[in-house]
Amino acid sequence: MKVGVLASWRGSNFKAIMDHIRLGVLRGVEVPVLIYSDENAPVREIAEKYGMEARYVRHRGVPRAVREEEMAEVLKSHGVEVVALAGYDYILSGGFISRFRLVLNIHPSLLPFAGGKGMYGLRVHQEVFRAGVKVTGPTVHVVDDSVDGGPIVDQWPVYIGDVYALPLPPEEKVQIIADRVLIFEHRLYSRVLQAVADGRLELVEEVVKVPRVYE
Ligand code: GRF
Repeated sequence: MKVGVLASWRGSNFKAIMDHIRLGVLRGVEVPVLIYSDENAPVREIAEKYGMEARYVRHRGVPRAVREEEMAEVLKSHGVEVVALAGYDYILSGGFISRFRLVLNIHPSLLPFAGGKGMYGLRVHQEVFRAGVKVTGPTVHVVDDSVDGGPIVDQWPVYIGDVYALPLPPEEKVQIIADRVLIFEHRLYSRVLQAVADGRLELVEEVVKVPRVYE
């Protein structure tokens, strides 16, 4: 299964996917191309280390239709069927999404909590912290043209109840939550991609679309 990864900046989720493929933990998945949206993005160096194709598609100041056309051409020319957003900071149009078998995204909270407002990065974890919830964790969901609103495929609960009592300033506690969740983001994305590659993910029409992952 050919997966195209879209990233905007750091690229730790992209790196985890590449490591899992290289180590044989994630099987039947190939990433023929990475697309990144910021020319200074550190994710480019990760792709370079892997000796793989990384394409910069300028986003700033470029109309969505134009940059999406460029991305679709790059992805199609590499035979990509599944698109994985990994820290990609832009909303995709329904037209772009419908050109692929599946588009997935990873979000660093248990959606729908702390989702839907275009929040990303530490802001998500700040919202979690402020709410005082004891369990958070990443979500992988199908991308539609809503913000964080597509069907939830899988989630990984992460206990953070211990963090609140640490004798640290709030910003450091939020950072601990973010770092802890990130470890499980990396595991979750590969777990979902493995299910898709194995043909264990199906979108079932019920009252709403409910993704089912079969063991
Ligand atoms: C992750 O927390 C992901 O959930 C969110 O953006 C962040 C990207 O991190 N969508 P990285 O670039 O994969 O390191």
